[in-house]
Amino acid sequence: MIPAGHTAVMASRREPPDSLEFFPTPPWATRALCKHVLPHLGLQQAMQFCACWDPACGEGHMIEVLLEYLNGGWGSDIFDYGRGYRVEDFLDERTVIGSPEDGMAPEFIISNPPFRPAAHFVRRALTLAPVVAMLLRTAWIEGVERYETLFRDQPPTLFAPFVERVPMTKGRWDPDASTATSYAWFVWLRGRQPMAPFWIPPGCRKALSRPDDRRRFAVQPDAGPLLATAAE
Ligand SMILES: C[S@@+](CC[C@H](N)C(=O)[O-])C[C@H]1O[C@@H](n2cnc3c(N)ncnc32)[C@H](O)[C@@H]1O
Repeated sequence: MIPAGHTAVMASRREPPDSLEFFPTPPWATRALCKHVLPHLGLQQAMQFCACWDPACGEGHMIEVLLEYLNGGWGSDIFDYGRGYRVEDFLDERTVIGSPEDGMAPEFIISNPPFRPAAHFVRRALTLAPVVAMLLRTAWIEGVERYETLFRDQPPTLFAPFVERVPMTKGRWDPDASTATSYAWFVWLRGRQPMAPFWIPPGCRKALSRPDDRRRFAVQPDAGPLLATAAE
């Protein structure tokens, strides 16, 4: 497993194709999951013992923050961003499941999956881990096809919208970005019935940002322009 505190230093970056929808997660949005959403589900204790997997980890913006709270974990991605994570297609049934260290299955699958195949990601994740948490646009809760292929039979245990905006920019994390798009954590606990929605309280962006986030996760000036154009 990758030790907590491993940082994604942004030198020599590799550019993924647009179709992979690389939008890194602001660190504070992952911390909101660990500080508010998982404890609301009674998982505080489990977090100290369980391993998690981000199967679409990009440059590690989410998995490195998860490792601040969870016992252990690892990341993988279909694209090789040059950060040392396993390179594999999560949607390929032949993909190896389990920790690179000991092959143990994950108890948590947590990610910010690409938007277009997100329902496919969730359905697959639900077969592999008892706890699945996905950061997606709030509007993802709608949609006839998603209802018929996911929500009707496998509704999330918890729908947890942010009351603040979570700005995500294409290709890099911009700590100063803003957005009109709203996001929520969707969490499934195997065998647990849906609960009332939980609103992630205001103030998280400020309270859960850390002084070294920019150094760890923002693109350093010598890393080249890469994508960083369209805010969602
Ligand atoms: C929205 S980004 C999230 C990255 C990271 N989880 C984060 O939160 O910063 C989506 C990621 O999904 C990856 N991806 C797209 N299709 C994939 C697939 N079939 N299997 C694994 N990763 C995939 C992309 O390369 C990209 O890194």
